[in-house]
Amino acid sequence: MAEYSNLTLEVEDRIAVLSVNRPDKLNALNEQTIRELGQAIDEITGRADVGGVILTGVGEKAFVAGADIAELAQMGPVDGIDVSRLGQQVFRRIELSRKPVIAAVNGFALGGGCELALACHLRIASESAQFGLPEVKLGIIPGYGGTLRLPRIVGKGRALELMLTAQFIKAEEAYRIGLVNRVVRKPEEGSPKEALMAEARAMMQTILANGPIALGLAIECGTRGMEMSVDDGLALESNLFGLLAATSDMKEGMTAFLEKRKAEFTGR
Ligand code: COA
Repeated sequence: MAEYSNLTLEVEDRIAVLSVNRPDKLNALNEQTIRELGQAIDEITGRADVGGVILTGVGEKAFVAGADIAELAQMGPVDGIDVSRLGQQVFRRIELSRKPVIAAVNGFALGGGCELALACHLRIASESAQFGLPEVKLGIIPGYGGTLRLPRIVGKGRALELMLTAQFIKAEEAYRIGLVNRVVRKPEEGSPKEALMAEARAMMQTILANGPIALGLAIECGTRGMEMSVDDGLALESNLFGLLAATSDMKEGMTAFLEKRKAEFTGR
């Protein structure tokens, strides 16, 4: 396992928990952290012992409070292009990962942090989480794919409202507009973060009981399909559907159903 300065990575029961670890800066993404995120996602996707990833932020207060403003403040126009492209490339690798990635949003998900959550396949949030794209307050726009992904997830009107007002919304509102899949209530006992992580693990376990190749191709169709014409998307879907008919996992899944037993997938 590689060493990371600004991330922690733990693997248990085929689930990787990848945490952004700069809590004194509310887990803001400086360049090094973004590069490490790219390395970590490559490491995880290459590891046979990992089926899926939960991405979160260390601590209770922040998922990720954005790109590191102290670093951004130094950039000129050419650096600005590079900064944006680096983040875009890393987030795209997350979005196109064939292993499911759940964002467990434990607090502020602002700017680049909100964009990071948007690049994940699913988002679950603790009750105290807040979302926002406050870039225009800083005189910039979201530069890590948020201007494309947010309208696709919540619709153009709501996306532009968030981008233009720069206001934060709470988890319940994020759920109402479809920005998050679930909100985890503050538990009677124990910490909200623990409850959030327990819910994220349970959701990932449900996902990982299914055929791994099918999961990867469902992600691919659901992601690339939205970026294509309907005819091209349908062609992609039917070709990948046909490809799955060549896998042992399809035979196992269907045989298990007919034999009324649980399928044992091998990823082949
Ligand atoms: N970049 C760099 N540092 C950040 C940061 C960011 N995006 N967000 C928070 N921090 C740092 C603060 O500068 C502070 O550092 P310091 O203790 O060395 O001064 C530390 O994290 C704690 O943040 P602070 O602002 O004191 O906490 P708060 O509870 O008063 O406010 C927020 C929390 C999230 C409302 C506030 O930090 C904020 O607005 N952050 C920026 C959000 C943003 O604009 N993100 C988009 C960037 S493109």
